[in-house]
Amino acid sequence: MKNKIIIANWKMYLSYEDTIKTSHKFLKLKKRIASNKEVVLCPSFIALKEVCDIFKKGAVKIGTQDAFWEERGAYTGEISPSDIRSVGCQYVLLGHSERRKYGNETNETIHNKVKAVLKNNLIPIICIGENWEERRNGQKDHIIMRDVNEVLGGISLKDTDKIIIAYEPVWAISTGVGIYAEPEEVKYAHELIHQVLIDLFDAVTTNKLFRLIYGGSVNSQTVKSYTGMSEVGGVLVGNASQNAEEFITLIENA
Ligand code: PGA
Repeated sequence: MKNKIIIANWKMYLSYEDTIKTSHKFLKLKKRIASNKEVVLCPSFIALKEVCDIFKKGAVKIGTQDAFWEERGAYTGEISPSDIRSVGCQYVLLGHSERRKYGNETNETIHNKVKAVLKNNLIPIICIGENWEERRNGQKDHIIMRDVNEVLGGISLKDTDKIIIAYEPVWAISTGVGIYAEPEEVKYAHELIHQVLIDLFDAVTTNKLFRLIYGGSVNSQTVKSYTGMSEVGGVLVGNASQNAEEFITLIENA
């Protein structure tokens, strides 16, 4: 079976100080990560360089929670992909539903960000998924197909590019009350995404460059039900990733 990737999205949960403390705690525990697991931590920008330095040597990789599509210029408050790359970061979360909701991100802006991120040899983790209303109205498949097409359509990929797509149904994110997508449903969504990618690119490119993962209230108890499936390449974890001990247990169980 292929390696599984487990990505921590620390959102705005941890203060700067707690981010550094949690990183040091996790560093001490990282020997418990099996060689068939890949781990990425996505701290907030304020701690990015320091967290990159803490994990400089070794298998744990670092990602950001966003990036801008321009490299340099009059863009107040934005962060350029080349600067992200320059501090030792390798992954970039893009299009998270919280960025879509609070930052007015659209598939069009996410498309531009994906291009800029790939240009800088960073790995985008593109989040897509339907909300509760869309699901109730029977639009789930349409939303998944639309998001993949609008975000990735027209992008020409290099042989060395790597792209992760996270299926994150909005209704399952950070529920805190145990609402998550059933593994069978995730499998179906991943098969659908896979098919759209084959239509957009081709089967060889899809299998070589893309990885599909699930996110939405994953915890140490439920993780295996997703990562145990060959269609699921890993998980994106918010709430259950903030505590180093809990997160390492989740990784062990994956
Ligand atoms: P959650 O967050 O695990 O807290 O649901 C996942 C995410 O938002 O990426």
